Amino acid sequence: RPRLDIAVIPGDGIGPELVDSALQVLDAAAGQDLALHVTTEDAGADTYRRTGTALSADTLERVKTRYDGVLKGPVGLPEVRRPDGTEAGLLGGILRGTLDTYANVRPILLLPGVQGPLRSDREIDYVIVRENTEGLYLSRGLGVGNDRAYADQLLMTRAGVERVVRRAFELASRRSGAPADGVRRVTCVDKSNVLRSFAFFRSIFDEVAQDYPGIERDYRYADAAGHDLVANPGHFDVLVMENFLGDILSDVGAATVGGLGMCPSGNIGDDNAYFEPIHGSAPLIAGRDLANPTSQVLSAALMLEHLGHTVPAQRIRAAVRAAYAGGRIRILPTGSPEGGTRAATQAIVDALAQ
Ligand code: IPM
Ligand code: MN
Repeated sequence: RPRLDIAVIPGDGIGPELVDSALQVLDAAAGQDLALHVTTEDAGADTYRRTGTALSADTLERVKTRYDGVLKGPVGLPEVRRPDGTEAGLLGGILRGTLDTYANVRPILLLPGVQGPLRSDREIDYVIVRENTEGLYLSRGLGVGNDRAYADQLLMTRAGVERVVRRAFELASRRSGAPADGVRRVTCVDKSNVLRSFAFFRSIFDEVAQDYPGIERDYRYADAAGHDLVANPGHFDVLVMENFLGDILSDVGAATVGGLGMCPSGNIGDDNAYFEPIHGSAPLIAGRDLANPTSQVLSAALMLEHLGHTVPAQRIRAAVRAAYAGGRIRILPTGSPEGGTRAATQAIVDALAQ
């Protein structure tokens, strides 16, 4: 049976308990078909506090070269900060940049029985593809003066936009989920009515779109996109956007499907990939069996799928869906699963055994 070498980065706050849940589910899904080998790697805010660096060069090198897959928990602790006030221990900048995982793929899916804040039940099943290596985030760490901040500039390169837009169209051509009307479409989200960089983004979107005549091109200004993700989420199939916009709008999308704890993601490049929930480490509820493990479990499924293990990936997704549909997992208005993290995990493991 094929061997699968996985690195896990448990991270901070609720990270360790979530990763623990995901490993239980992975184990159950691997069953007799996959020989799963798991190595824990140390990184994040607590690592920074202990060692002075959030991710050592050795760890980074191993993560880059040694494993088939990398599953990461959320990282960051509000009190662990750099002298400039930003959080130390956030790995996004290091991992996404160094591994060149340029597409941040964030499925937003409403599972059966989940009561979101929207008026009526709707079909919500779309994917945000967030550019992950440039945009506004590239100016992270640049200086700010005492009296004004005029430091953060956005970078978009032709190659950088092209590759992520292409990813979005490729995803639209093969993904199994669909918008309510069944029309395959990629929505370009930008602010090209105000900012020229975004007009540049849109023009490259249009060029790439020509290679995909079967897929509808669709456009939204970022503000209207925020509106429509709430007012008409069933319209969307795949959306592609700049890094900072993707950060914000993916949290908006999460709110419509039961909260951040529902939402997995893949950071995907040509040579490397890693998988993580879209949310933070929620230190206030850490260690109390309150976190929703769904985001981490579905991140593990995305990882398996990316590695070509589509059968166990599908089995995990089906088990999660069954656990929700059968009422074994119910999400409280607080975002926590009724009965706790461990009970929700067990419900998924049990569904896998059916
Ligand atoms: C995310 C997170 C990160 C981001 C933080 C933790 C740096 O919010 O993955 O969306 O802003 O990219
Ligand atoms: Mn975010």
